[in-house]
Amino acid sequence: MCGICGIVGVPNAARLVLQGLRSLEYRGYDSCGVAWLDGALHAKKAVGGVDNLRLDGPAHETAALGHTRWATHGNVTQENAHPHLDCGGDVAVVHNGVLLNYETLRDALTTQGHTFRSQTDSEVLAHLWESHAGADGLERLRRLVQQLKGTFSIAILDRTEAALYVAKERNPLWVGATKTASFLASDPVALKPHLPAATPLEDGDHARLTPGRIDLFDAAGRPVQRTAQPLAGLDDRIDKAGYEHFMLKEIHETPASLNRILSAHVTIEPPHVDLHLPDAFLAKAQRVLFLGAGTSFHAGLLGAQFVRRLARLPADAQTSPEYKDATSVPEKGTLVVLLSQSGETLDTLQALHRIESLGPPLLALTNFPKSSIGRKADHVLELRTGVEVGVAATKTFLSQSLLVYLLALALARQRGTVGDAALLQAATELKRFSRAIDRVLFRTAEAGQLARELSRFDHVFLLAKDLLLPAAFEGALKLKEIAYLHAEAYAAGELKHGPFALLEKSTAVVFLLAPGAHEASLRNSLHEVHARGAPTFVIAMDGAQDPGPLATHTLWVPAAPFDLQPLVFSTALHLVSYWVAKARALPIDRPRNLAKSVTVE
Ligand code: F6R
Repeated sequence: MCGICGIVGVPNAARLVLQGLRSLEYRGYDSCGVAWLDGALHAKKAVGGVDNLRLDGPAHETAALGHTRWATHGNVTQENAHPHLDCGGDVAVVHNGVLLNYETLRDALTTQGHTFRSQTDSEVLAHLWESHAGADGLERLRRLVQQLKGTFSIAILDRTEAALYVAKERNPLWVGATKTASFLASDPVALKPHLPAATPLEDGDHARLTPGRIDLFDAAGRPVQRTAQPLAGLDDRIDKAGYEHFMLKEIHETPASLNRILSAHVTIEPPHVDLHLPDAFLAKAQRVLFLGAGTSFHAGLLGAQFVRRLARLPADAQTSPEYKDATSVPEKGTLVVLLSQSGETLDTLQALHRIESLGPPLLALTNFPKSSIGRKADHVLELRTGVEVGVAATKTFLSQSLLVYLLALALARQRGTVGDAALLQAATELKRFSRAIDRVLFRTAEAGQLARELSRFDHVFLLAKDLLLPAAFEGALKLKEIAYLHAEAYAAGELKHGPFALLEKSTAVVFLLAPGAHEASLRNSLHEVHARGAPTFVIAMDGAQDPGPLATHTLWVPAAPFDLQPLVFSTALHLVSYWVAKARALPIDRPRNLAKSVTVE
């Protein structure tokens, strides 16, 4: 989503802010801007990426503030890009989040004589600041924040005080200082070149940043110290390593991520799954609720199936944008599992806020243990993928899928529903599993062939059964988001209860066909679809009966144990989606209208 970076106390601050924005830009990339102080306040904005922002001339500035935008209110234009300035040109403001009451505020400010230049909700912040002129900066900040309804991380560069001010409510913001300079950013990755450690702000926190000094206060206005987090381990390698796109590179990084998880959590001698969670934490679970959005929700669907089947506990998955507004609450004894790659998805954070006062045990599965969601949870399981830059979640989905399987196994062990022999078998299969993913990746050329044929269609159904259904949902989401195909996933048997009416030559149907219990049923669906003349694309697992002429095109994927089959099919679908998007010449790593981390409602 939007990225924020600010620096005070360093010569050349504006250029350094642009460097910081470059490391955040993959999260929101429709427009950008920077403001800086060299006695006077200047600002420059551009539509598109940070490379469109050129700073010429000498660099005398020692304070600067920048932003990359993902539009919520107002079109993608230079006027709507941040920073926004007040009427007098004394303050520049950037904002991440949504101000729910901005129309009321704007009307009142307009009546007072303020002139607005953008259609954004954020611009009210600059004029509100201006309207509190005369008060000390911190007092101005407090008055401003009191007037806001909504979610925000705000940073303000004030010319008269040569200081930066920040405030945070439900959107991430980090600060840190050296002896001579102070820094702020919406993501610590932008601070890593300058600081060994940085501090995540809590909701209600607000601060003044001057060279080498941060005055930080909590929601009640009390001075507060927060624990700084070391930045050394943070993966900031924004590098395609020879691949044409981050997405393809990240799909190929999947086996390494899975192996990191397996080394941390699984042993064969003795056969053991150790999630490094206190025994009592898992023992309390009488049911499990998985919460997440988008791809993370699909991992939750898989997790709920694993828990029901292996641990024989009731389990459910809910999509967090819905759950945050639902009225139901977790029953007593529910372990709530929060799935979020970024750890900053506002819908998931809001769902968590709605139920946290009830005190359910909270487990987060995230790539960023120190993220907002990671910090709220009682315990965290780390995805261990390294940074994921492509907007489409790929390797992180596979890590989530593996971790929810391990969680189900751990719960099953504790409840005695999986015995020694079954655990030994599972651990042994797991330890060699990443090779199956490697073998899917070896078949990238074959995936490309299927994808090129599929890319000619605008409407696609994906059909699967049982454990493979979440993989079908995941494939459909990827085809939509990066290949712009209208793709829908269905339980195979469900298609004839209505959607069959859409079957014709121009509607492609993709089948996920694995050997075993559901094979006959899926072949039956394949016959029914084939008989109606719709083109059929079968992704078939080695060991299944060859669909032969029933399939317009077949892609074979390597065999895997039943529980791990969804991971194999998901990887194949990630590859196919990539190659469909490539055949359609689309901006794969930065699909239109999307952002890597959705920190607004
Ligand atoms: C799809 C995708 C999104 C995210 C969703 C949740 O490829 O990336 O659907 O999965 O926005 O994001 P996180 O996992 O960061 O909470």
